[in-house]
Amino acid sequence: DSDSMIEGLIGQMTVEEKAGQLTLMGDLLRLPETFARVNPDYRETNGQKAEAEIRAGRLGGLFNGAGVAAGRRLQKVATEESRLKIPLIFGADVIHGFHTVFPIGLGEAASFEPDLAQRTARAAALEATAFGLHWTFAPMVDIARDQRWGRAAEGAGEDVLLGRLFAEARVRGFQGRDLRDPDSLLACPKHMAAYGAVGAGMDYNSVELSDQTLYEVYLPPFRQAFLAGALSTMSGFNDINGVPASASRRLLTDVLRRQWGFKGFVVSDYESDLELVAHGYARDDRDAARLALLAGVDMSMASGLYIKHLPGLVADGSVPMSAVDESVRRVLFVKKALGLFDDPFRSLDAEKEATRSLTPTARALSREAGRKSIVLLKNDGNLLPLARTTRIALVGPFADDVANLNGPWAPFADRRLGVSLAAGIGSQLTNPGELTVVKGCDIESPIAGGLDQALAAARAAEVILLAVGEGNAMSGEAQSRTAIVLPPDQQALVEAMAATGKPMVVMLRSGRALALSGAARNARAILATWFLGTETGNAVADILFGAAGPSGRLPVSFPFESGQEPFYYSHRGTGRPEVIGKPSEYKARYRETANTALFAFGHGLTYGDIRYDKPAVSEPTLAWDGTIRVSAKVTNAGKREAEEVVQLYIHDKVASLTRPVRELKGFQKVRLKPGESRVVSFVLARRELEFIGEDLVPVAEPGEFEVWVCGSAVTGEAAVFTLVGQ
Ligand code: IFM
Repeated sequence: DSDSMIEGLIGQMTVEEKAGQLTLMGDLLRLPETFARVNPDYRETNGQKAEAEIRAGRLGGLFNGAGVAAGRRLQKVATEESRLKIPLIFGADVIHGFHTVFPIGLGEAASFEPDLAQRTARAAALEATAFGLHWTFAPMVDIARDQRWGRAAEGAGEDVLLGRLFAEARVRGFQGRDLRDPDSLLACPKHMAAYGAVGAGMDYNSVELSDQTLYEVYLPPFRQAFLAGALSTMSGFNDINGVPASASRRLLTDVLRRQWGFKGFVVSDYESDLELVAHGYARDDRDAARLALLAGVDMSMASGLYIKHLPGLVADGSVPMSAVDESVRRVLFVKKALGLFDDPFRSLDAEKEATRSLTPTARALSREAGRKSIVLLKNDGNLLPLARTTRIALVGPFADDVANLNGPWAPFADRRLGVSLAAGIGSQLTNPGELTVVKGCDIESPIAGGLDQALAAARAAEVILLAVGEGNAMSGEAQSRTAIVLPPDQQALVEAMAATGKPMVVMLRSGRALALSGAARNARAILATWFLGTETGNAVADILFGAAGPSGRLPVSFPFESGQEPFYYSHRGTGRPEVIGKPSEYKARYRETANTALFAFGHGLTYGDIRYDKPAVSEPTLAWDGTIRVSAKVTNAGKREAEEVVQLYIHDKVASLTRPVRELKGFQKVRLKPGESRVVSFVLARRELEFIGEDLVPVAEPGEFEVWVCGSAVTGEAAVFTLVGQ
């Protein structure tokens, strides 16, 4: 059986071969074109080096390369020329698509449709496995409550419930039904853990976090991902309260394996084991290898620390052989689960590689996902949707751009086929020739004469569409920002356009919430369009002209000012909450701005007109083991069909630990015809009322709860019920 096969192998392995199985290196031979800095000779030389290492049993897998021919060659060396013939595992960052790119994680979360994320992850897996991959370093499940952090782009936003549901959906999508299937892509929820809580939103920074918040907010998406079957995870770069995540035995062994029963393996982040030295936690790189392995990091990414030091560490007794064996056992278990021992050439099929990229189905899905990720933040006087005959000036650095459609972490994207805004919008106009497209300025710099050209175009138009925001490189890893605002030249462009007095639609591109000001805030219509991927232009045009109604909702709060960050709806209330609209000095507030959202979590308009009645509870009390129904009538009083995301929030009024002002506990997407009303109901049980108590165990406490059924984290009227004790 599988165990005896694995034990047989472990029994035959030298300590160096064991360390080799635990070593993952960059796949320089097969790096995608986007990493063009790698010249062909260098690739080939490194390919040969990798082959020699594989032959000697000193490498367990390669990452961030793709391609069937070279993949087969490497796998052949592993399974025919190495002593123990153990297959390699090929991993890569397939975060939001492979050749076909889907919206960034944050954007897709705005769909409030986990099933959509499952489908895009499945489509990404179909493409990636056709190009020789077995394993993706995704989903990124870090909760991000500080929008200065560049990696907010990759996750599912600030909320725990959304985070959990999207984590689960993405794992299911990547892995499919059976890991052994050659179309299944092993998932790697990352980064374990609390990387999203880096201080001041600065990437790689240390994390100061209470255990309650760790357990209640940051860990649940991981737990959900593992329950959905993810068999790998990545340890983070950050420390938590003084212990680097990649040396945290508590997280990687006590929580992950003992409490949760995780059976897969842990890979370090890129040299995060070596970085234990820079953290001041390990004396030197040898010590770092020891600490990481003993904490529970099974596989070392990129640093080569394990192959370099584990044999010596075992020889002098610093690391017991049993610990190394345990890590090898986990890696081999996952390789076995992927079916690699039976068919090492799984996912290395030249025919699939030739036919499975950018299929019409994948592109259609990218367009659907793009549409559903767009959030209509504002639409004064129903400026949108536009008639197809509107004379439009499309202005801004992203107006005719295809280089910035995808956002961070899309290294395998086939950029030639991306649909620009100009192309997508032009194609839906009655008279495409009437569309004027002007850049006005670059992403972070002016263009000589740009403003004048933009002004001329704007004056001749009926409506100005502004394509502004962040470029690809402004969010993602290592792209933290102190001010989450439009770059100054773009702000100046928006102000100049506003001065024409023409109606404006701001189409924001970004990998995070932005603090909008001036004319960008005051524009009549604002769309959050994130980075939507391959079909950007078509998806945006679908919404602009009303082929589809906007149905996205914000998965992150948009603040008025950058200085409000970290800013999230589910904060605790303080002893002196500010009463909005009633300024008073000695309250939790800022001098310059009310501490409220410009656009709240959950907010998003439709082309209809959605109204909520006050919710009603089926009973005034919830019995300890019972359930209660919370319902509200939702009406579309508008003239167009609308898709509304009906949201359920609770607030525990008095508890042994102070509780957030609101917590999302459920949501449903409903489609309402003009004039249609529907009663939308949710069922609550004690389980939904639990929180992490002082002893780190989930507790529910009898007492009063407020409950809302509404359209955002700050709207609606509350109903009340009481949880009664046993
Ligand atoms: O998967 C990534 C991770 O998220 C950040 N560091 C590099 C890894 C591999 O590319």
